[in-house]
Amino acid sequence: MNTDALKKMAAEAALRYIQPGMVVGVGTGSTTNFFIEALGAAKIHVDGYVASSIATENRLKAQGLRVLELNATGDIPVYIDGADEADPHFRLIKGGGGALTREKIVASAARLFVCIADDGKDKPMLGKFPLPVEVIPFARSFVARQLVKIGGSPTLRSGITTDNGNVILDVTGLDFSDPLRMEETINAIPGVLDNGIFAHRRADVMLFGSAGGVIERKA
Ligand code: A5P
Repeated sequence: MNTDALKKMAAEAALRYIQPGMVVGVGTGSTTNFFIEALGAAKIHVDGYVASSIATENRLKAQGLRVLELNATGDIPVYIDGADEADPHFRLIKGGGGALTREKIVASAARLFVCIADDGKDKPMLGKFPLPVEVIPFARSFVARQLVKIGGSPTLRSGITTDNGNVILDVTGLDFSDPLRMEETINAIPGVLDNGIFAHRRADVMLFGSAGGVIERKA
């Protein structure tokens, strides 16, 4: 089975978490795109959707789905999004698509975070995937030097400006033995908007598409 088929399987399984009348947070990325397609086909009468990126907002609208501002909804019942890596404690690395800051905001505003992924993202430990860090352009070089001091090797992602007008540094070589602490350490560097470790706001449910069907894990 190819990876796209596994992503689609996980995305379609997430429909079971969507009830009529809800406000639903929607992530960003190729797995989430399958979820948006499934939403368009399912025609569940939700109140509306909160998008974690402009790309997702456009895709929701293209399906004829109602997009709401997070500032107008308050806390939301459920957030559905993909990940680049997930560990057995439901901690994630996200931001391969560069939308990590808004994703973390919407995930944090949600009572339930359902993460959808192919089972290739199911890892014993985080850290193989380069960690995306969103940085204010003014601070790019300073932040890169601070990341080197804590053991990282940052690379500026070329050709991308985030929805917030910032740049992304992709960082390898960091110690992920304590993801919660690493998330805090990086976010304490002046000029960092946020980083792609989701340890404070972990997933509550993992749905992995696998050759044997959907694997569902609950925290
Ligand atoms: C977007 O910024 C990311 O956090 C994505 O959720 C993550 O990169 C997973 O993307 P795919 O679903 O495309 O693998």
